[in-house]
Amino acid sequence: MNILSIETSCDETSVCISNDLDIKSLFISSQIALHSQYFGVVPELASRAHIENINFVIKQALDKAKISFDSFSSKIDAVSFTVGPGLAGALLVGALAAKTLSFVYKKPLIPVHHIEGHLYSSFIENGIVNPPFLGVIVSGGHTELIIVEDFGKYTLLGATRDDAAGEAFDKAAKMLGLSYPGGPVIDKKAQKGNPDAIAFTRPYLKDSWDFSFSGIKTALLNYLKKNPLKGENHLNDICASFRQSISETISFKAFEAAKKYNLKKIAMGGGVCANSLIRKMFETLAKKNKMKLYMPSLLYCGDNAAMIGIAAYLKQKKYGLKFGETQLKPSPSLILENW
Ligand SMILES: Nc1ncnc2c1ncn2[C@@H]1O[C@H](COP(=O)(O)OP(=O)(O)OP(=O)(O)O)[C@@H](O)[C@H]1O
Ligand SMILES: [Mg+2]
Repeated sequence: MNILSIETSCDETSVCISNDLDIKSLFISSQIALHSQYFGVVPELASRAHIENINFVIKQALDKAKISFDSFSSKIDAVSFTVGPGLAGALLVGALAAKTLSFVYKKPLIPVHHIEGHLYSSFIENGIVNPPFLGVIVSGGHTELIIVEDFGKYTLLGATRDDAAGEAFDKAAKMLGLSYPGGPVIDKKAQKGNPDAIAFTRPYLKDSWDFSFSGIKTALLNYLKKNPLKGENHLNDICASFRQSISETISFKAFEAAKKYNLKKIAMGGGVCANSLIRKMFETLAKKNKMKLYMPSLLYCGDNAAMIGIAAYLKQKKYGLKFGETQLKPSPSLILENW
């Protein structure tokens, strides 16, 4: 099945043409340069940029897949789009574009939950991972452990009670005078620092699978008040210690959960999954615990329409192509529900 997928939940305008699991073309237009001066995504600017970009991005993805608007009808079988969660105005742009293509070319629409995209993003390069497995979502807005009992059958074990891991990296970078987004910059500086230099807390939240990263952020703020930055080495040590704390917390809890629920496979997704230490820790722990680990490559960690196409493919395979009108309405706080 050939699917044209659209992702516009936050600050990436992305369109993909996929055939089952095969990515024919993918175009991602990032708005990082637009938002970096504000150290975060400004919703109104994001919506406007999506409106400006969407037609161009659709055209680029179609061109790369050698599909014209004239051959659209014969070459594309369905249109999918991120229906939520995300920024309201940003979601609306993608939904409207998808609905327009669906209406004009009379193609069915497949709504996709953004987190389901991240959850299945590792399938793009690894092939389908058969459930059950533990889904580990580490992104800008989510940090979650999800048992995937079957495709579309989920048990949410734990989620962050305050900041997501990516959000903590972004806020820490701002405190340290670094650029946005903070995750990649801190990751790079951390590689030159000492992870044991500063003992930031590991918020394990005993007896719960939830996460909480706002405490580490406050710990960093308090540390900086007492110890103002004094040069590059000091900055590298802070980045290394901060990254160590977040990475150890996520990996420890994820593997404890996998062991407790006797899950032998872990599939990761989300922008923070690009973190070099998190990747290394998960790889080491997977080997030690004899578990199979599936991670997307860096291209597919952050927001992209290819992961939406994969989730749409799995969804239509199981659910068919008929969705109620309410399921097609963009929803900023959409909850992950079973199919
Ligand atoms: N190497 C890295 N180390 C740590 N964090 C990173 C790295 N690369 C990117 N990130 C973080 O990933 C986040 C963006 O990820 P993503 O695009 O998946 O989030 P989002 O779509 O905004 O949120 P959500 O998916 O929860 O709606 C940012 O917070 C960014 O700092
Ligand atoms: Mg995302």
